[in-house]
Amino acid sequence: MTDRPFLECRDITVQFGGVRALDAVTITAQAGSITGLIGPNGAGKSTMLAVASGVLSPKSGSLLLDGEDVTHLRSHQLGRLGVARTFQAPQLVGEMTVLEHIVLAQRIGSGGPHLLRDYLTPGRSWIRADELERASRLLSGLDIGEIAAATPGALPMGTRRLVEVAQALATRPKVLLLDEPAAGLNEAESAGLADLVQRVCERFGVAVLLVEHDLELVLGISSNIFVIDFGRLIDQGPPEHIRQSRQVKEAYLGVGV
Ligand SMILES: Nc1ncnc2c1ncn2[C@@H]1O[C@H](COP(=O)(O)OP(=O)(O)OP(=O)(O)O)[C@@H](O)[C@H]1O
Ligand SMILES: [Mg+2]
Repeated sequence: MTDRPFLECRDITVQFGGVRALDAVTITAQAGSITGLIGPNGAGKSTMLAVASGVLSPKSGSLLLDGEDVTHLRSHQLGRLGVARTFQAPQLVGEMTVLEHIVLAQRIGSGGPHLLRDYLTPGRSWIRADELERASRLLSGLDIGEIAAATPGALPMGTRRLVEVAQALATRPKVLLLDEPAAGLNEAESAGLADLVQRVCERFGVAVLLVEHDLELVLGISSNIFVIDFGRLIDQGPPEHIRQSRQVKEAYLGVGV
């Protein structure tokens, strides 16, 4: 744990055409803890994750990683520095097994050779024994070892989401950005996911930034929460503060309360 925010998005402004998607918003995420980012539809949450992962350059503001200014780095460079993300829509490849997804992510994380050439060579085993061992260990550590040989398409949505988190983790991130990981999950699946994200934080000391519509999930596992509405930061604080927040109620109910 460090008291210094591991990730800081400082005074971030993003403009699409004439529209401000983010207006001087500052959020921070600490290593070894879960930070929630919530707000109604179109508030700017995915836009903030795009900035934090180097996919989008802000019009103004800075991105800091462990105190270093990384505003001008692109996503592959930030990836090398330990920033991993999952997407709002699932990104798994139908034909590869779960284990193969994890090995690929591990290779990307270690800057090792790309696997596609090996993968596409018929009859060749492209996974080395040490990679197999490491990927299997990660899956069992996350209690999903039994699905190693499955292809994602054959798995329930909730399990697929767990695989995506495992895949992001396999790159050994310092920062994990999760965009609505519980979308489309039932209650039991959401609980499994919440449990996984918490374990990730504890075991690997990762700074997790969690965007999620399921407020109970966010309030249940985050230590600090930022709330944005129409591109502006309207409140922030621990769950007990957010539960009582008038601004948050207004933003979600759309009325004065
Ligand atoms: N590439 C883009 N071009 C133009 N406008 C965009 C683009 N991406 C997002 N926007 C707009 O920016 C605003 C913020 O969008 P964003 O996707 O960040 O919201 P969000 O909080 O993630 O919403 P949701 O909860 O629906 O996922 C919205 O008004 C959206 O329409
Ligand atoms: Mg979004």
